[in-house]
Amino acid sequence: MRREIVLKIQRQERPGAPAAWQEFRLPYRPRLNLIACLQEIARRPVDAAGRAVTPIAYESACLEEVCGSCSMRVNGVPMQACSTLVDNLPDGTITLEPLSKFPLVRDLIVDRTPMFEGLKRVRGWIPIEGTYDLGPAPRRAPAEQGEAYDYSRCMTCGCCMEACPNFSGHAPERFVGPAPLGQAYYFLLNPTGRMEEGERLEALMGRGGITACGNAQNCAAVCPKEIPLTDAIARLNRQVNRRWLARLFGG
Ligand code: FES
Repeated sequence: MRREIVLKIQRQERPGAPAAWQEFRLPYRPRLNLIACLQEIARRPVDAAGRAVTPIAYESACLEEVCGSCSMRVNGVPMQACSTLVDNLPDGTITLEPLSKFPLVRDLIVDRTPMFEGLKRVRGWIPIEGTYDLGPAPRRAPAEQGEAYDYSRCMTCGCCMEACPNFSGHAPERFVGPAPLGQAYYFLLNPTGRMEEGERLEALMGRGGITACGNAQNCAAVCPKEIPLTDAIARLNRQVNRRWLARLFGG
């Protein structure tokens, strides 16, 4: 049973600066999440030795696991700081580190641009012309709606990208990563999104596309929204193979 909360936080003032750990002790209260702990430290930025320190830089917005901005490594595992309760972590010191696969900005803040660039690579959107009324959307079977709903819950938090051994935001051309693949599948499920099927599958067939996935399956294991990313990747593989065979035999 905890009497106090001990947090060991990796600090780094700017990219390229040396990283160092700082320890903080907070009185235990039940049902505290990690963002509440960081807010406590922000109110009184004093480390465990009683020294005043600079406030910790971290990101958060929605505080209800919707925006995806508060991703960090908690005891080495990528997760959302807003929905992680101290009570659900093992007793002992809790370590907080920034995601390692993205360029560091400061302390617990990283630049997730490589993930958004990946979404651009796989055309992770549905094109519309202007903002006028496009009329009723195409009808979709409830089963297809249900499947699409799973993928619509992606909040681009980057946890799957962090856990993937093949993705690195420091060399994003090597593999686009699981989050953009999940969204490519999501937009191929959409009747309007399917109008761009050719361009999207061609992008997935290119360098750093779906063939760079090593099938480690870590992505689905850490996704806070339990998105079946490995199913999406398997189905995309089939679609890409069909297109490749059609191309080979002039279909
Ligand atoms: S603050 Fe939005 S997901 Fe955690």
